[in-house]
Formats: sequence, structure tokens, C-alpha cells
Amino acid sequence: MNDKTVLQQIEEGYKDVGHKDSHYISAKEGRIIARANSRIVSRLEKNKKRKADESEYVTEMRDPNNIVEFDDLHTYFFTDSGVVKSVDGVSFEIPQGSVVGVVGESGCGKSVTSLSLMQLVQAPQGQIVAGSIRFRTEDFLYGEDGKPIPLYEYVRDEDGNPMLDEQGNPTVLTRPVLDKKGNPKRDKNGDPIVEKVQATDADGFPAFRRVSKTYDVAKMPASQMRKIRGKEIAMIFQEPMTSLNPVFTVGNQMDEVVLLHVPGATRESAKARSIEMLRLVGIAEGELVYKKYPHELSGGMRQRVMIAMALSCNPRLIIADEPTTALDVTIQAQILELLKSVREKINGSIMLITHDLGVIAGMADYVVVMYAGRIVEKGTVEDIFDRPLHPYTVGLQKSKPVVNQKTDWLYSIPGQVPNPIDMPDYCYFKDRCQSCVAACNGEYPPLVKVSDTHYVACYLANGAKESDK
Ligand SMILES: Nc1ncnc2c1ncn2[C@@H]1O[C@H](COP(=O)(O)OP(=O)(O)OP(=O)(O)O)[C@@H](O)[C@H]1O
Ligand code: SF4
Ligand SMILES: [Mg+2]
Repeated sequence: MNDKTVLQQIEEGYKDVGHKDSHYISAKEGRIIARANSRIVSRLEKNKKRKADESEYVTEMRDPNNIVEFDDLHTYFFTDSGVVKSVDGVSFEIPQGSVVGVVGESGCGKSVTSLSLMQLVQAPQGQIVAGSIRFRTEDFLYGEDGKPIPLYEYVRDEDGNPMLDEQGNPTVLTRPVLDKKGNPKRDKNGDPIVEKVQATDADGFPAFRRVSKTYDVAKMPASQMRKIRGKEIAMIFQEPMTSLNPVFTVGNQMDEVVLLHVPGATRESAKARSIEMLRLVGIAEGELVYKKYPHELSGGMRQRVMIAMALSCNPRLIIADEPTTALDVTIQAQILELLKSVREKINGSIMLITHDLGVIAGMADYVVVMYAGRIVEKGTVEDIFDRPLHPYTVGLQKSKPVVNQKTDWLYSIPGQVPNPIDMPDYCYFKDRCQSCVAACNGEYPPLVKVSDTHYVACYLANGAKESDK
């Protein structure tokens, strides 16, 4: 489906609904909204359920060093009051092995951006309407029967190189098939039956052939997305109690993840993996916790279980949405340390969503600042903390308490975020901005490049001076 046509359809479908002076919606407007919602949503839903050929959603990364590239992402909610443009043209990337922090005040679209990447936006009202989310995976290579192709052990010479057969192909290692008593099974002619020996991966699970592929998550059918969600991308939510199922034990839920995503995993190997992951996240008595129900654990322990569960399939990307907000300060620090150390162990990348600038400063390599569904500034952690340019970023930093600095009151950014259903056609921050210049009365400022890594959407960074007021 063509992106432009959906955006155009939205533009046209709601043009007769006006909120300019009030939030009141007449019965006629309500009907227009309902009709447009149903038309657009059913079109998008049908598209998600289609049987798509892989060529429709396999793509190329713009930079092979990135693991994720959000490109002009638009995720909207089609509500009874109109279209909420929660994410409205967001572009940023997550380089392999890095931590990208996403900050911004409540409701600015941080969670919706991450949920879009997982294809977990609340449907049918929430929909990715345009843009791309490119994600680089190390997917299994599937055979014609739809099953992953096993990787076999080869017979090797003294130097460890595979030995070649007459056709020049590596010789696969075989072993006799045993019956229940441990005796070799034989065929009709009395010859021993042999089977190929499958190689194992670093975690001891059967190994399969893999292939590096880039998918456009925004265009992927839901059935395909299920294969990478939880395996290649894992998510840690703010409140672990809502993500863990209260009626199953921790072990049960952890094993389920491994059994679902690791072909060839058995109940025993899944259990061993779960207990090993619990140890990795600093739970000493892993075997004990494995048998417990979520309500029998403390908040910090539940969050560790969530992290252990997220890591059990060696994801290449971890999305942590406010991972420490529900925890006290000491446990917060431990969880952040833990995230840092596991990232190094699995060489994964982290998308870290938080309100807390202190957490970002301590953890992130890159920072994305969002405001009302758009990126207002992005750059390296030094760009954002040492050289902030957007008045919103500057305001956020001023509103952060500083140790050893006595102050009578803490700065807060005046005013409120505009109504998400009826965004102005000028800079969204203008009504709260204390640095406005004449140019700010024009259209929404473009995102301009101020250095190789630093981008800002503000007329001040675009050459306009405060003296132009
Ligand atoms: N299911 C939904 N239906 C309608 N609107 C929604 C829904 N989920 C989110 N939104 C809207 O999308 C916008 C962005 O929400 P989002 O949850 O991404 O904010 P956030 O930046 O994560 O905020 P917080 O810091 O409070 O978690 C908000 O205006 C919100 O009202
Ligand atoms: S563009 Fe103008 S109104 Fe918007 S943040 Fe910059 S200075 Fe303020
Ligand atoms: Mg959120």
C-alpha cells in the first residue's frame, strides 16, 4: 500500500472536522470521524493480515552499522474524537552495540515509537500509517518445508578444517542411531542406521543455518513478525507485574520463551537456560525463584526476572521502557548496571526510554529528544548535555535537580503540550517557548544538521537570531 495515499486519505477524510476554537464535536462531525476511521482502519488491518511475499518487506539498511533505522515513521490512533498523531514523522537510528536514550515528557510518543517497532501498537485504533522501521536480523534460513535448515558437524582434519568428499563438499559427521537399550539400530540388510550430527550453538542448543536480513517492520505481516518478536527484539516494561502472568510460575513463563523461539530446545535444556539467565541477572538462588509465582517476589526481583526473560534468546535489541521507574533508587542503580553488563555480554543494543535525564547521561551513547510526536533534537550524549540547542531540551535540563546547588524553586517549563488531535501548523513548542523569534510564526521548523551527529528542529539553530523578534 502506498504511504502517500494513506496520509492523503487521512488528510481528506477529516478535513470537515474543525476543532480550531473548541473541543466540541457535533453529531455530524462525529459521524464523519466514525466513517473515516472505519474506512482507513479496515484498509490498514486488511493489509497487515495479507499473505505477503518476502520481497515486499525485505529491504536494505541505509548504514550497515545500524541495527534499527526509523525512517519518517507515522503512527496514529483513530479515536472517536479524531486522529491522534502520536508519532508524526520520526527518524533516528540505533547503531549496533550502542544505547540510544529516548526522552521527552509524558505523552510525547516514546512508548508508541517502541511499540511500533515491536508491532504491538494497540490495534485496531492504533496503526502505523506511513514510514519504515528497518531492522537487521540474523534470521534462520528456512527450507522449502518451512522449517529452519540444521547446521551439521563436519568431519575435520588435524588442523580443524572440514574434510572434503569426492565432489569437493565437506563430509558431514554421522553417528549410529541407538534403540532404547542403547544398541545400534540396523536396517533390513543388517547395516547400522546412522544420522547426521547437528552442531550446537554457544548456549548448547541445536544450531541452524542463519542469514542476515533486513526487514521493514512497518510493512511486515503480523505472522512473520511473531518470529522475531521476543527472539531478536525483547522488551522490558515499566511495571513487571503487568507483564508477568500471575497464574504461572516464573520458570514456566521463562521456559515458554525458550521453547517458542529456539528450535530443538527441550524442557530440560529450556529449564537449564532459564536458571542460567536468572543467575546472570544476579539472582543467587535461581532454582528457588524458578519455582515461585510472580507475587512471591519483590518488585526489584520481578524486574530482574523480566530482564532475564528478555535476554534468554540472546536478543540483538532490548527495548527498555522506563525500566526503573517503579523501583527505589538503590535497586534502580543495580538494574541499570545489570543492563549495561548484559549488553556487553551479548553485544546487543538498547533503546532506553525514560523521563530521567540522569539515567540517560549515565547509560546512553546517543539521545533522541521527542516533543508532541516529533523529534526536536538528537545527537550524541555530549551534544545533548553539553551543547543543547532546542529551548525544550534546555528547559528539560534546567528542570533537573542538581546536587550541591541550593535553589528556592525548581524550574518547570511553563504551559502545556498542544492538543494532540489538533496540532498547530507552526512550531509545536512555540506557545511555551521563551526564545521565540519572528521566523517561529512560519511553518513547523525543519530538522537541521548542526554537526555530523547533532540535529535540531528550531529556527534558532537554523540561523534565526533572537534579535529578529
Ligand atoms: N491506545 C491508545 N489510544 C489512543 N491514544 C493513545 C493510545 N496509546 C497512546 N495514545 C496517545 O499517544 C500519545 C503518545 O503516547 P505514549 O504512550 O507514546 O507516550 P509516552 O511518551 O510513552 O508517555 P509516558 O512518558 O507517560 O509513558 C499520547 O497522546 C497518548 O494519549
Ligand atoms: S522554532 Fe521558535 S518557537 Fe520553536 S522552539 Fe525554536 S525558538 Fe522556540
Ligand atoms: Mg510511555
